[in-house]
Parts: sequence; structure tokens; C-alpha cells
Amino acid sequence: MSQDDPSPAGVTKGLAPVVTIEQIANWEGQEVIIRGWLYNLREAGKLLFPIFRDGTGLLQGVVAKNAVTPEIFALAKGLTQESSLLVTGKVRADARAPGGYELDVSHLQVVQLVPAEEPYPITPKEHGIEFLMDHRHLWLRSQRQHAILRIRHEISKACRDYLDGEGYTLVDAPILTPAACEGTTTLFETQYFDEKAYLTQSGQLYSEATAAAFGKVYCFGPTFRAEKSKTRRHLTEFWMVEPEAAFATLEDMMDLAERFVTYIIKQVLEKRRPELEALERDVSRLEQIEPPFPRITYDEAVEILKRKGSDIRWGGDFGGTDETLIGEEFSKPVLVHRFPASIKAFYMQPDPERSELALGVDMLAPEGYGEIIGGGQRVSDYNLLLSRIQEQNLPREAFEWYLDLRKYGSVPHAGFGMGIERAVAWICSLEHVRETIPFPRMLYRLRP
Ligand code: 4AD
Ligand code: MG
Repeated sequence: MSQDDPSPAGVTKGLAPVVTIEQIANWEGQEVIIRGWLYNLREAGKLLFPIFRDGTGLLQGVVAKNAVTPEIFALAKGLTQESSLLVTGKVRADARAPGGYELDVSHLQVVQLVPAEEPYPITPKEHGIEFLMDHRHLWLRSQRQHAILRIRHEISKACRDYLDGEGYTLVDAPILTPAACEGTTTLFETQYFDEKAYLTQSGQLYSEATAAAFGKVYCFGPTFRAEKSKTRRHLTEFWMVEPEAAFATLEDMMDLAERFVTYIIKQVLEKRRPELEALERDVSRLEQIEPPFPRITYDEAVEILKRKGSDIRWGGDFGGTDETLIGEEFSKPVLVHRFPASIKAFYMQPDPERSELALGVDMLAPEGYGEIIGGGQRVSDYNLLLSRIQEQNLPREAFEWYLDLRKYGSVPHAGFGMGIERAVAWICSLEHVRETIPFPRMLYRLRP
């Protein structure tokens, strides 16, 4: 390697700077080095059109036979898909090029050549979903997956930024827990030395403790449900962001949820438009999302469902189809509140006006995406909470600490949880949550 060659690690001793494709517009007319992989290669006689990717975007290169040495031309011509490279070239604006720029390649250095006998398994042709899921570790390099996960990143960042700006403190909850939060039917059990532990279903109970310590808190981490359901909305491992506030009511949380979701949508529209376009997302549907969101009671939701031909009866929980039907009534997310207490978790505060109702809320996304947020006001009275724990046959000793919160300075408090993958699926307009998380875990999928 000559003195002027960049090393694979990117320490350039030569003149050309190493730049990212995302920043390419800043380098028009200049010689630069791109570090990345070969995405695709097209040949047209004395011209080669390799497409490079570097993790920040795609860039088409032009290798002209008369502009490079015969060795470099041969090297470029023999490149295999996903071979890793260092490419030197001059940036040229070209209105016809996908990102508006092309690279006139002058030099190439191969870091690792993918052997032609064992080519990269994911080719531009169509592959079945099971094949792609089995190759998820490679599939992540494709443009569509890249766009989805960048939007996911923006959503996660917007969640944090919004709550930070509202004075919430991030206080993380544990993953290994001694008891259930969301019912005992979906618990993942694990051996914890000589006792049983469970993977957390929600950080909420711990957030109630930290809310009494910090006022306004949130936790944001992986949560687990041993869901035996094989739907397009269920994962067994998913990420949840859960704000919780002391001295807050159901109404306060509906207001927060509405502002929170609006902010997230605005950030994605502002920062990730090219990715939304790559996914062919109809952004006009997202641009309409502004407070106030419609708010309906469970009773009203049941009326809507009956009118639409559902055979739901008062007291029943909504299935995925019901949620889709309700959501389709509105162009914005809808807040459904005051559910029958019997279908909600033990910790829900009863409605003072109708004790058979719980002060809980679900936010249903439009366009058929169903529930993205669940939450509400928590029981703050010691005796009521104790009777709830007993009625549901929950082990009292595992909840003593949780009961303590009602003994020492109990206050009305409320919160909610938003599933990140459900939000990503809706915002990206995806058919299934399996593409919203880097490595999905589902009923029949633990690998790769
Ligand atoms: O409605 P859920 O079960 O509520 C709770 O866990 C509360 N403890 C949250 C709180 O108040 N702090 O779940 C909240 C959200 C759902 O609205 C959904 O977006 C997501 O978590 N979710 C799932 N996402 C993917 N796969 C699953 N199996 C999910 N289960 C829930
Ligand atoms: Mg729920």
C-alpha cells in the first residue's frame, strides 16, 4: 500500500477526506473517499455503474474505462455484491442520480472480496419472507430495512427528547422481576439461582415507585410477553417507553399521550422524509396528526362496533379486528377510555362515578394499526389495592413493596406505555411488526 492510500480503518495519509454518503452534497466537485460495501453493479460497455452503500445512504459511482488504470477497471468489474471497499472519486451533481450526486471513481481498494463461488444470499430478486427472516443479520443492509430502522431510531429519540423536555427523568426498571405486572398468562419464567423469576412485562410498577421519588419519570427498555398469538402486531420481546407522573390523572395522561405522539410524528416528518419516501409512506396521513385527538368512552366504542356489524357485547375486550374497525372511524389516533374494570389489570383506579369502570385509556392508531398506547390512573388507596391483589390471587409477598407506595405518601398518579414497534409499524405503514425491530422475537422465531 502506498503512503497515500487510506487504510481500511480509515486513517488517510493522502489528500482526499473520508466522507459519508449522507454528507456528500457538501463535497461537490471534490475528491473524496467512501468506505463501504458494493450494493449493486451494472455494466454498460466501457462504463461500470457500481452502487455503493456506507451505512448512511446509497451512492452511484461511474467507472470509465478510459479514466482509470486497467487494473482498477478489472477490479471494479470483478466486484461481487457486498464486498467491502474504499472508493476514491470526485463528487459530481447529477439531477438524474437517485440522491442527486454521483461519484466519478478514480481508485478502488477492496477490503474483502465476497467469493464469487459463494455469493451474497440476498439478491435484488424477490425472496420469501421466511428466507429473509432467516437472513435477518444480512437483510438489515437492504434499503427498506435501513429506512425502517432509521425511522425507529428517530422515534426512540423523539420519545426521550419529548419527555426530557417536559421534565421527566429517565429511571430504568429491572428486567428480571419476582412478579407479574400484566397478568400471569404471558409470563416468561426463568430460573434465578434457587428461585423463579420472570422477564418483565412492563416497567410500570417500578415507575410508580420512582414517580414517588422523582415526580415525573419514564422507563424505556425491552419488555416481554409470552404471547402465543401469531398476529402482525405481536412480538414476544418489544420495547416500551413508559412515562409515569405523581399527582396526575387519567385526563392528564390523555393530554400527554396526545402531545407526545404529535411530537414524534413531527420529528419523523422533519428528519426522516427520505426514508418515509423510500417506504412509499403516504405522508399526508401523518401530516394531519395534530391535537386534539378524538376521545370516546368504551361504551361509545362498543356502539361504533355494533353499528359496524361486530358481535361484541358490553364487557368484552376488543380484539385486533375491533381495534381496526374503531380506528378506521377516525383520521387521527383515537383515545378510548373508561373500560370495564373486569378486562383491565389489577392496578387500575375505578371510575368514581361508575365503579364497574376503570380509569384506563388505550390509544388506537388510524389506518388499521390498532392499540399503540395503553395506560391510565393507578389505584392509590392501600385497602383497595390489597383487595385487588387478593381477588386476582396474586402473591401478596411479591407485592409488599408495591403496597408500601400506598402506605407512605400515596398520591393520585397515572402513566402509560407506548410500544415502540407498534408505533414504527404505523408510522412506516408496514404490514407486520417483524420488520420494526432489528432482530424480532416471535412465537416461532428466536433466530438469528
Ligand atoms: O397495554 P399494555 O399491556 O400496557 C402496559 O403494559 C402498561 N403497564 C403500560 C403502562 O401503563 N406503563 O402495553 C402497552 C403497549 C401496547 O399499547 C402496545 O403498544 C405494546 O405495549 N404491546 C406490544 N407490542 C408488541 N408486541 C406485544 N406482544 C405487545 N403487547 C403490548
Ligand atoms: Mg393494552
